[in-house]
Amino acid sequence: MSAPRRNVELKATDPDPERSLAVCLELGADDRGVLVQRDTYFRVARGRMKLRVQTPGGAALISYHRPDAAEARESRYRIAPVEDGGALCEALDAALGTLVVVDKERRLLLWEGVRIHLDRVAGLGSFLELEGVAPAGSDLEPERARVAELSDALGLDASRILSDSYSDRLLAADAGPDRPPAGGEGELLAAARAAMEQAYAPYSGFRVGVALRAADGSLHVGANVENAAYPQGQCAETSAIGALVAAGQRQIAEAAVIGDGEAPCVPCGGCRQRLRELMPLDATVHLLADGGAHEATTLGELLPRSFGPEYLP
Ligand code: THU
Repeated sequence: MSAPRRNVELKATDPDPERSLAVCLELGADDRGVLVQRDTYFRVARGRMKLRVQTPGGAALISYHRPDAAEARESRYRIAPVEDGGALCEALDAALGTLVVVDKERRLLLWEGVRIHLDRVAGLGSFLELEGVAPAGSDLEPERARVAELSDALGLDASRILSDSYSDRLLAADAGPDRPPAGGEGELLAAARAAMEQAYAPYSGFRVGVALRAADGSLHVGANVENAAYPQGQCAETSAIGALVAAGQRQIAEAAVIGDGEAPCVPCGGCRQRLRELMPLDATVHLLADGGAHEATTLGELLPRSFGPEYLP
């Protein structure tokens, strides 16, 4: 199998696309015009997979792995050109299920091996993306340097740089095809579902995603992380609690747990106790199934007559 392709990517919000275009042209970027793209993301076990249908152009299946980080980051991807995009989309939707569809207009410019994308994304707004495409064997330093140079020229400060993807943003904005209930609860459930998509569960095949709302309203997510040495695997609740604590939060106001299959996923006994440390007994825990089931309960119902920090002197 051939090695995946690599690039260095930076994504940012763009409050003034016309100015960005002017800066790029001033730098001598080559304007390749506007592409209309529809990306359909499918539910996959590892990384992300999307079918891109582009006008002008054709269809391609793209799989990739990329860390979520608010900085220039390495992305590894594979692209397979597709002859009949419509038929493949239907087949993948039937077999895997569609996660979200992202529609955008992309103005493509090229500068010194860096692809510059001025994107208008339906439902999200305007963004700017820099992709330093790396030749095989590159240590990525030249690509990082060119992306940094462009980023400076475009005035991309840290507050504009994004760590997530358009698909994550649409899911969080409740715009996915599985549109959850509106409002804050919908956001919590969508976040749990998006985390489940990232689960690393090659041994059980049972993916779990958890979203926790902290007392200040912020959301923190986790997925199960299995291990070849089985007992070292970690539940999604444990991952999410770690993320919440690392973000400086100390109280869980609401939780959502989603797992594969048809039955609402319940937290295991150990994780009920872990939640108990930071969560009031009357706080809501949503139990969901990938198949669509949803019920709401409380931590007190899941863990009656429990031991907690207040028992300790
Ligand atoms: N799992 C969780 O992530 N949370 C739970 O509360 C129940 C179980 C995961 C652990 C393991 O990776 C898989 O589900 C099968 O047990």
